[in-house]
Amino acid sequence: MTKNIGIIVGSLRKESYNMKVALNMVKLFPDDYQVQIIDISQLPLYNQDYDDHDEVPAAWQTFRDTMKQVDAVLFVTPEYNRSIPAPLKNAIDVGSRPYGESVWDGKPAAVVSASTGAIGGALANMVLRQSLVFLNMPTVQQPEVYLGHVQNMLSDDGSFKDEGTTKFLQTLVDAFVKLIEKY
Ligand code: FNR
Repeated sequence: MTKNIGIIVGSLRKESYNMKVALNMVKLFPDDYQVQIIDISQLPLYNQDYDDHDEVPAAWQTFRDTMKQVDAVLFVTPEYNRSIPAPLKNAIDVGSRPYGESVWDGKPAAVVSASTGAIGGALANMVLRQSLVFLNMPTVQQPEVYLGHVQNMLSDDGSFKDEGTTKFLQTLVDAFVKLIEKY
C-alpha cells in the first residue's frame, strides 16, 4: 500500500554529505512509496510562548501540517559535538507540541548517521534514539547505520562510489518498510 515517507536531514549545509546520503536513499524505497525530503531550515527556534498564546509561526504550522501527512520518518544526520545538530532538535521539539498533538506519535522511524569522522556519528545516532523513545516512535533497531569518513564514499555527482554502500543501506530500508507495513 502507498505510504508517505518524510526524510529529515540534520544538516543545513548546501553541500551536506548527509543530504547526499538521503537523496541516494530516496531511490531505495518501493516504487509505490512517496518519499519527500522535509525542509527544517526555516523553522524559528522553539519557544513555548508561541503555542501558549496562539502565535504559531507560519513555518511551524506548515511543518506540522506536512508531518501529519507523513506515515513514517527517516532521519539522516551528522553528529555535532557528540550530539545531534540544533536544527534537528528544534524540528523535533516543534513537531512535538502543542501537548497532545505531537506529529511524531506512533510513527515508525529509522536513523542513519554520517560523519567525516571515524565513528560515523554513532553518538548522534544514539542521542536521537533517546528522543524517539520518548516520542513513541517504533524505530528500526537493526541494522544500525553509522557512515564514517562519508566524504570518501561519495562521488562528485553525489552517488556512492561503492555498490556495497547502497546494498547496506538497502537492508536498512527493507527493515524500515517491514516495520512500516506492520503499522
Ligand atoms: C562537527 N563534526 C563532527 N563529527 C563527528 O564525527 N563528531 C562530532 O562530534 C562532530 N562535531 C561537529 C561539530 C560541529 C559544529 C561541526 C560543524 C562539525 C564534523 C561533521 O561530521 C562534518 O562537518 C560533516 O560533514 C557534517 O555533516 P554534513 O553537513 O556534511 O551533512
